[in-house]
Amino acid sequence: MTRIALVTGGARGIGRAISLALKDTGATVAANYGGNDAAAKAFKTETGIPVFKFDVGDFDACKEGIATIEAEIGAIDILVNNAGITRDKPLHKMDPEHWQAVIDTNLTSAFNLTRGVIDGMRERGFGRIISISSINGQKGQFGQANYAAAKAGLIGFTKAVALETASKGITVNAIAPGYIATEMVKAVPEKIINTKILPFIPVGRLGEPEEIGRCVVFLASDDAGFITGSTLTANGGQYMA
Ligand code: CAA
Repeated sequence: MTRIALVTGGARGIGRAISLALKDTGATVAANYGGNDAAAKAFKTETGIPVFKFDVGDFDACKEGIATIEAEIGAIDILVNNAGITRDKPLHKMDPEHWQAVIDTNLTSAFNLTRGVIDGMRERGFGRIISISSINGQKGQFGQANYAAAKAGLIGFTKAVALETASKGITVNAIAPGYIATEMVKAVPEKIINTKILPFIPVGRLGEPEEIGRCVVFLASDDAGFITGSTLTANGGQYMA
């Protein structure tokens, strides 16, 4: 059976690798993106994966985006809540906008999207919901009160929705990547990467986006039906939750 997957933030970074990994399994993939039209267009041309622009932090925009995808492609079986941003500042320099933007895009988005697909999944008796959390939601990180709160929130969200849907053939899981070689991590000052991050990754390197793509493929598979409410950590040994 061909599954249909929606990956938010699915045209760049970890999301891009997730979209491609799911496509490789034979799934039909739709990639959401938020703002970078040029990158999304290039991604579509290169991969053949259709892209859908809407703000994951906006409930009505998500409802409309899901309706468009379901009309054009079909009912969504696999939802990957991947879209995320950073607005790193120590709390004493953090403004309400830095807080709210990260909470909206990284956490409220999971409610907006999951709420939009859950009725259909319950009716069909199958679903896979996978949210991309972070090592920094598990252990905290200097400069990331907003991001750590949102990513920790995804873990609680995952456990609650897993309980509610376990009897309906739906699994709900989180993945907590460590530091992965993407633009987001490359934006961290080099001095911080070299002194505060890399020395603490026991495998001695950043992760690759494809390594997270393979985690998603596993949790999205029919074979993973007994795994729900879990958080799969993939961080090179940096933090053992
Ligand atoms: N641990 C301990 N101390 C740290 C630190 C850390 N991780 N990061 C910075 N500091 C220290 C600096 O060394 C500096 O100390 P000195 O003044 O003694 O030199 C001090 O904190 C700087 O403090 P300021 O209040 O002046 O902070 P700032 O305004 O310069 O902002 C920052 C600092 C923006 C937080 C910057 O340090 C930074 O970008 N840190 C990286 C945060 C990070 O790791 N983000 C992860 C992004 S990737 C991601 O989020 C993906 C994922 O899921 C893993």
